[in-house]
Amino acid sequence: MRLRLRTRPWLLMSVLALAACDDDDNDTPLEAEPTDSSIRPDAGPPPDAGPPPDAEAAPDAGPTDEPCAPGDGQCVFRNDTFGDEQLWTDVLGLHDLVEGVTPAMALELGLKVDARAVPAVVLATADLEDPATTVALLGLDAIVGLRATVEGGQVTRIGVTCALCHSTVVDGIAHGIGKVHDGFPNRDLDPGRIIALTPGFPAYAESLGVDPQVAREALEGWGPGFYDARFNQDRISAPVLIPPAWGLRDVPLETYTGDGPVTYWNNYVAVTQMGGNGSFRDTRIGLDIRQTPDRVTPKLPALRDYQFTLEPPRPRPGTFDARAADRGQRLFAGKAGCAGCHAGPSFTDAPQLHAPEKTGMDPLHAERSATGAYRATPLRGVRHHPPYFHDGSAPTLEAVVEHYDGVLGLGLTDAEQDDVVEYLRSL
Ligand code: HEC
Ligand code: HEC
Repeated sequence: MRLRLRTRPWLLMSVLALAACDDDDNDTPLEAEPTDSSIRPDAGPPPDAGPPPDAEAAPDAGPTDEPCAPGDGQCVFRNDTFGDEQLWTDVLGLHDLVEGVTPAMALELGLKVDARAVPAVVLATADLEDPATTVALLGLDAIVGLRATVEGGQVTRIGVTCALCHSTVVDGIAHGIGKVHDGFPNRDLDPGRIIALTPGFPAYAESLGVDPQVAREALEGWGPGFYDARFNQDRISAPVLIPPAWGLRDVPLETYTGDGPVTYWNNYVAVTQMGGNGSFRDTRIGLDIRQTPDRVTPKLPALRDYQFTLEPPRPRPGTFDARAADRGQRLFAGKAGCAGCHAGPSFTDAPQLHAPEKTGMDPLHAERSATGAYRATPLRGVRHHPPYFHDGSAPTLEAVVEHYDGVLGLGLTDAEQDDVVEYLRSL
């Protein structure tokens, strides 16, 4: 396995030292607290996408190994695989792969360890260069977004949850080991590389009609923080950045291309990407998947409601220049013309969508979607997740503003561009 190790021997020492002092509240560069409990109902289904046909039939066929009550959205987000072991174990063989992966390698691949799930006694004996430690961590449900069954020291079943991509940890203990924060995109995670490493990947690629070697190179090229949620549908490899799953309560259409409301997309991902046992239908993209029992549909309302409680981190005084941000705000609404599209409490005019050329975007990703256009991305907390634009083409907020200045011919001076950046940093 060609995995470069970045983890240093001091890691385990730090783990031991910090495990002793369980610093719960001392880890908040990110401060994501749920606030308003009034939940807006979903904006309704996208055009032509009716409810999955099996929604009614699900309850009586209910399986016995559900980890969460269907009404517990946080549990579903963190722990529910929806039966996607049928992809990750039966097809890809991730259970075989993880048995040879050391914790150090797992961290290198961007996987995160939930420090709270690991008793100090386990950390005390943990060897981060021993794959057996990975198995032990999996047995404790301590690897964020992976849920495994461990029997006699062997991983027999494994699946993934939403938290794999949409949660991260604050590095309280060591890089990649700490307290879990839901809603933050895991921009260290390298999903393409993980999938390409699985023993079942060549056969899986062939089943998609893609040459395994070509597919491997494509997925290895995605890089940390990127994933392509359409690759297994249209065989095109053009990944996008994993977005935050917070701050969506006031955003009527989700994804970079505004394909549908939260529940539409949650359903799409759970069934077509995670490989969960559920149903999904959207005639716009020619999909009508029916599986029984439907382990996805009954959980969608609670999953949505939980996401709506996830707030972006609030701007903290002192982390931006307030006077420059004030000047930037006036430019944002005036000369720079940003507020025409980034409007309202979340800074998006969705459900309005925009043709790619209106903002100088590469059209490919829009063309692959059901809408053919891009949604003005919500901007609260934007400073926390560089790079920017769906394809990561702007490394910094400075580059974003420079992009608009050129494409829209805004004629902003350098000082004005700096002020707009400062305003973005204050959102
Ligand atoms: C393998 C990584 C991965 C997993 C697992 C995953 N997502 Fe995502 N998620 C993405 C990517 C990438 C996008 C962007 C897709 C796009 O716009 O084309 C996305 C987009 C979203 C969005 C839209 C955000 C916005 O700004 O509009 C929501 C909401 C979301 N995911 C929720 C979920 C939920 C809930 C689950 C579990 C059922 C889940 N995701 C599982 C990678 C993932
Ligand atoms: C014509 C509508 C429109 C205008 C005007 C506009 N935007 Fe955008 N903005 C968008 C769209 C659409 C996207 C999504 C593009 C993508 O992801 O490829 C976007 C994305 C962004 C992003 C990236 C967010 C992320 O998380 O990736 C930032 C930051 C941003 N805009 C800031 C601005 C600023 C600052 C201005 C004014 C200088 C501005 N926008 C003007 C429509 C607009």
